[in-house]
Amino acid sequence: MRYNKKELRLRVDFNNMMSKSVGQDGFTDKQLLAASAEAESAFESVKAGRGKGMMGWTELPYNQDEVVEDILATAKYVRKNFEYFVVLGIGGSALGPIAAFQAICHLHYNELPKRKRKGPKFYVEDNVDPERMEALFDVIDVEKTMFNVVTKSGSTSETMTQYLIIRDVLEKKLGDKASEHIIATTSRDSGNLIKIAQKEGYKTFYIPDGVGGRFSELCPVGLLPAAVVGIDIKGMLAGARYMDELCSSSNPRKNSALMAALMQYLAMKKGKNVSVMMPYADGLKYMADWYCQLWGESLGKNKNLDGSACNKGQTPVKALGVTDQHSQVQLYAEGPFDKVITFIAVDRYRAQVAIPDGCEEFPNVNFLCGHTMNELIQAERRATEYALTKAGKLNHTIVLPELNEFTLGELIMFFELETAYTGALMQIDTFNQPGVEEGKNATYALLGRPGYDEKREELASAPQKLNRYII
Ligand code: PA5
Repeated sequence: MRYNKKELRLRVDFNNMMSKSVGQDGFTDKQLLAASAEAESAFESVKAGRGKGMMGWTELPYNQDEVVEDILATAKYVRKNFEYFVVLGIGGSALGPIAAFQAICHLHYNELPKRKRKGPKFYVEDNVDPERMEALFDVIDVEKTMFNVVTKSGSTSETMTQYLIIRDVLEKKLGDKASEHIIATTSRDSGNLIKIAQKEGYKTFYIPDGVGGRFSELCPVGLLPAAVVGIDIKGMLAGARYMDELCSSSNPRKNSALMAALMQYLAMKKGKNVSVMMPYADGLKYMADWYCQLWGESLGKNKNLDGSACNKGQTPVKALGVTDQHSQVQLYAEGPFDKVITFIAVDRYRAQVAIPDGCEEFPNVNFLCGHTMNELIQAERRATEYALTKAGKLNHTIVLPELNEFTLGELIMFFELETAYTGALMQIDTFNQPGVEEGKNATYALLGRPGYDEKREELASAPQKLNRYII
């Protein structure tokens, strides 16, 4: 599919980050100019790191021609032969696939009749709640299901547990044919899943070495599930490429992701410890979830790059416009000055719904008649933006001309670059996650994984809980 780049260009409105709009908490041109050298050096360090170490994700829009063809062929096969497609994974291996599915597919996709869907019914099991696992078996027929087990490390307890359960069920039902129902997406040379996949003969896709979980939506982790449900993955990659091109200047005024990073960084210095992501589109509800992982895991660190101790980061919060206007916006407007709010606006929704006439005798309802839901949601977004700005709360708006594969790719790349620039400004390692690893290792120890005796002892010697504090 062809996309008109210029018409689909993502833009960011930073007006309400400036003091002329929000008053004393905002920035002046002078302050931004004074910080431009820092921004430039963050840009240069990200540029220098491209494609190296854990920055393989920058190259994904450019270096996957072959794998994309394999993904498309596999997706076609899955669509032809299976009625259900289930992703087994967690964290970065689940949030991207969920976000893309919600953004592009029909909002009630699974409830649609088969002829109206572009692919099989779609589920992502990103937890180990036993009730959820059992519930899955109530809605799928495993004999008609392709499972995609996704784990970069190949050893995450949650994912491997899901896998073990599925494999057992498949083997009991299908015997030797079980392996035809599993696709593995994992590291080429490390972890257990690759070894299992080779032994069992699973179709396998590889997660490139320099691509961490939260930066993996544009590699087979996200592309295979997306292609299976009929999402134009080449369009997503084209959008990401375009955004990458748009962000090729070291001048924040010509690079929206760098400007966003600089402003978040300066805002953190002023004590803005919370980043609210508030899309005004149900399709983007789970993009906010995906963003929370990207922002939280990448920037929440207790060490600077030089090894010195710190406790840095900004707590990401997801909200949905307009739904959360009736829940969280009271706090954003009148609560502490500790947040930066990012709105995501969509110029043209994929549906136009008129509000019919019919309430002439009630003027306080009738004012809505003759408008559209489209006008209402835009008015509510503008009104909330106005109210928060009036209250002096820092906010900016990312505008998508419409929501499609191309703009989704732009948005993903925008956030990934913004995160990388922000981490560089903060002088931390954006791409590690020792805090997550600690929890993973403690789980291994608690469940008796070999090699974790020391961790088990450490846990046993931790302060014991006292009954008097359990009421
Ligand atoms: O971003 C990350 O690296 C993590 O959140 C991982 O995605 C998550 O822990 C799952 O790890 P894995 O893909 O190794 O199963």
